[in-house]
Parts: sequence; structure tokens; C-alpha cells
Amino acid sequence: MAAAGKDGLALFALKASRGLGERVAAHLGVALGAHEEREFEDGEHKARPLISVRGCDVFVIQSLYGDAGASVNDKLVRLLFFLGALRDAGAARVTAVVPYLAYARKERKTQSRDPVTTRYLAGLFEAVGIDRILGIEVHSLAAFQNAFRCRTEHLDATRLFVEYFRPLLGAAAVAVVSPDAGGVKRAERLRTALSRALGGDVASAFVEKLRARGVVSGGALVGDVHGRDVIILDDLISTGTTLARAVKACHAGGARRIYCAATHGLFVGGAAALLASPELTGLVVTDSVPPFRLDDGARDRLTVLEVAPLLAEAIRRLHADGSLVDLIEV
Ligand code: R5P
Repeated sequence: MAAAGKDGLALFALKASRGLGERVAAHLGVALGAHEEREFEDGEHKARPLISVRGCDVFVIQSLYGDAGASVNDKLVRLLFFLGALRDAGAARVTAVVPYLAYARKERKTQSRDPVTTRYLAGLFEAVGIDRILGIEVHSLAAFQNAFRCRTEHLDATRLFVEYFRPLLGAAAVAVVSPDAGGVKRAERLRTALSRALGGDVASAFVEKLRARGVVSGGALVGDVHGRDVIILDDLISTGTTLARAVKACHAGGARRIYCAATHGLFVGGAAALLASPELTGLVVTDSVPPFRLDDGARDRLTVLEVAPLLAEAIRRLHADGSLVDLIEV
């Protein structure tokens, strides 16, 4: 049986993330490791590597969004069982590469007797024996790092967004806006990076957002966006409500062009309405979650940036025990 990869590196992608896996493999200059995913009549399944991984540094890619082919839970269980199988097959080091980490939003109790789901999720990954997990723009970095006792590695899309926006913004006055108070630090990272890249001051603002029992209220803009090009930055778009409210607040505040940027575009429910909003100039997401829920009309105003080069470089460095710092900082 053939041993995996080059220099002991073995890269796998489960079927549901095969496309992304192939793009990462191409950037790394390796072939995806062969594996089998077998379905049983009662809905159970099994997955196993078809190459020897004994002594290998193994990376497995699976992005945990639900789609028509598999639910979030189905993708999660398949990933967990495959990671466990790799460990049992003698892999020296096992890294779960999860571009979109499900259940990252439920990281604390917001109501009495709430679950702390992110921590339970971490327990599941640890139970199958992973050494580390690599995520991109998880909802709360502090919660991610605290929930997992194994090593956590984290990437964000700041660099991708700066490269995208720099030529669009030119000499315009710019503000980076967080659509809620919880995202201010994230927006500040982009603001600092953009101001360095543009060689000038970039203003900051945030929009008040209150959520009680699923109902969102508030909407006051804190900061000045008047006459500025605005980038409203969030980690993810689910129903689009958060960004739609922020777009309205920035428009009312006299913003010039209004862009939205989010790492993960789930686009559930009425999220397409956000893209139809006349006040919005453009929306950019990454392909950590492909925009399969949007029709062609909605996709016309959407830009999708590739995460494969970033993931490939991170895997290359992690495999060589190199640093991720300059990959994250702009
Ligand atoms: C919440 O705090 C997150 O950062 C996002 O703002 C939220 O999940 C987006 O959800 P929606 O698009 O449904 O407003």
C-alpha cells in the first residue's frame, strides 16, 4: 500500500469538501490522499484512508456547513469518525482543517440553562484524538482557544479583504464599520491593515445591535461615516439581517459607497434581499461556504474570494513547524 504525500505530509478532503480539498492540494503541489466513504442502508457510514498514514502528518479538510447533500451534523460526524480512523491507523499528527466551524456561535450562555455548544464540540474533536484544529475566522477567537484543549490555529480573511478593497477604494475617505459591538475588534484589525495599505487614516464606527429571543433591535450608528466609503465587516452572513440593518444605518449616516464583507456566507432565509438592497454597492465573502443558496441574479453583486491559497500556505507552514504570524498580519 502506498504511503501518503511528500515528506510525510498526507492531505485528505472528505467528499463533501472535495472541491476545496482539490484546490488546496493543487496549491500545495500534492495529490489528495485516497480514501473510501461507504454508505450503509440504515444511514450509517464509514470512512477510511486507502493509503498508509502510519507516522504521517495528516491534514483533513471538511467545512461544516449544511447543504442539500448533508446536514451540519452529518458532516461533523463523518469528519470525527475519519479523524479517529486516521489516529487508529497510526498517523503521527492529525489536524482537522475546518474552514467554516459550525456551532461556533453558541460559545456562552445567553439565557438560563443555555448550552455552551462550542465547548461540547471541542470535546468531540478531542475524544477522537486530534492534535490540533485549524479554523478561519471563528465567531469568537477567545471562545475557540478556550474551548479546545488541543492546539488551535486560526486564520482570518483580513489579508484577502485588504487585497480586494485596496484598488476599489483609491483615494476615497474610508470607514470600517462593525455591525455590532461584538465585532469591533475584528473590524479594528481590518481598519488598521487597510489604513497601512492605503497609507492614510481609516475611520471606525459600529452599529448598535440587541438580540433578545431571536429578535434583533437597535440600529444606532456610533461613529462618523458621512461622505466616506464604508466597509461593513462581519464574520458571517446567516439571514443577512445584521448586515442589512448596518447598511441602512450607514446610508442614513451619509455614507458614500457601502460595501459589506464577511468571511462565511451561509445566505439562509431571506439573505438574498441584502444583495438586492439599493444602498449596497457590493458584497464580498470567501468560499469557505460556497454561495449555493443564491440564484444567479443575487450572485451578480457578490464577489467570492478563494481561501485555498491561504489554507495551503498555512498547511505548508504547520507541516514544517513554521510560523503563521506573517500569514495573518498584513
Ligand atoms: C453574530 O453575532 C454574528 O457575528 C453575525 O452577525 C450573525 O450571526 C449574522 O446573522 P444574520 O445574518 O442572521 O443577521
